[in-house]
Amino acid sequence: MKSVNELPSADGLWSGIRFAADASVEGAIVVEQGAIRWAGARKALPAEFTALAQHDGGGALVTPGLVDCHTHLVYGGQRANEFAMRLAGATYEEVAKAGGGIVSSVRATREADEDTLFAQAAARLEQLLADGVCAIEIKSGYGLSLEHERKQLRVARRLGEAYGVTVRTTFLGAHALPPEYAGRSGEYIDLVCDEMLPALAAEGLVDAVDVFCERIAFSLAETERVFKAAKALGLPVKLHAEQLSDMGGAVLAARYGALSCDHIEHLSAEGIEAMRRSGTVAVLLPGAYYTLRDTHLPPIAALRAAGVPMAVSTDHNPGTSPALSLLLMVNMACTLFRLTVPEALDGVTVHAARALGLQDTHGAIAPGMPANFVLWNVREAAELAYWFGQQPVRAVVRQGRIAIGANA
Ligand code: NIG
Ligand code: FE
Repeated sequence: MKSVNELPSADGLWSGIRFAADASVEGAIVVEQGAIRWAGARKALPAEFTALAQHDGGGALVTPGLVDCHTHLVYGGQRANEFAMRLAGATYEEVAKAGGGIVSSVRATREADEDTLFAQAAARLEQLLADGVCAIEIKSGYGLSLEHERKQLRVARRLGEAYGVTVRTTFLGAHALPPEYAGRSGEYIDLVCDEMLPALAAEGLVDAVDVFCERIAFSLAETERVFKAAKALGLPVKLHAEQLSDMGGAVLAARYGALSCDHIEHLSAEGIEAMRRSGTVAVLLPGAYYTLRDTHLPPIAALRAAGVPMAVSTDHNPGTSPALSLLLMVNMACTLFRLTVPEALDGVTVHAARALGLQDTHGAIAPGMPANFVLWNVREAAELAYWFGQQPVRAVVRQGRIAIGANA
């Protein structure tokens, strides 16, 4: 791998490109000192920019860099055995209750040292980046002790530095009850709120706080305790909400001004209204829906009618969504959830950025924003959703550098 500093600068004039919104018109982007200086139709380009270093897009379609706003990328081991158990008929809840599920990844994550976790997560990150990802959220939640949550979050930070990709870390200490706290979930939440979160936040390792609010995880009251602790530290919250049942998590999260509620297959009308009022993003995770062979669709039509922004993400994790292509999730969001193509593309750009509080720096190609954009070998935007298993990336400009396609 090239170090970030060796990657060529993207500064200059990008022409021979077409914006997804109107692919019939030639577009142009001016990058100056790693940021977007100007973007628009080539024929409207101010003369002052015409003599800059030239980058020929070769007719490629251009979109903002993709944002993967919900991942559990850092963990030890893998769980192909559970995949086989589910094929034989076991449900996710049954696997979890039998001692598998999240806690089996906790065992493997605790056993792995930081460098091993880094190497394994880096290999996965490289695949996501190859698909045009320029910003990614990475959660903890497989350590479930101060030492091991710290190890996961440190790996997440190191990945961002090594690859020159924006990483937002989310502390998910309340992901599952660690076995040593069996029957003592209140005490574990004490540990999360009083020790783990303050210590990790003080170390600069936490950008947001998440909880898995579910029958097999934490109750609404426990979730609220974690939210209170996050708010006391000035940290934004998000929630794994209403994935397997309606726990009322979205209404609670909205009260705390959550950035996002994620999964939400069982989201109620009340939850939708609360999210609308608080400006909370609905993060749709078709990879988990697919892997669990779920049949309970998230309330897409009602979210659309209410104007709640919908993001789409991989939810990459070793249990419910071992997915390493955000573009495949775009396809699934359309095919399984019936999003329109523009909705799905907004879901992995502008709305995904909002789900991370990154709307001022990611998810759009606009003057003043860091240069993060992708050139695609397709004729029209619908092809980004239509093909699957294809890798149509021609070039990626990430943080103002040409990370892929250096000949552009
Ligand atoms: O987003 N729902 C809870 N957490 C993960 C699954 C984690 C796991 O099974 O390891 C999710 O689906
Ligand atoms: Fe998740």
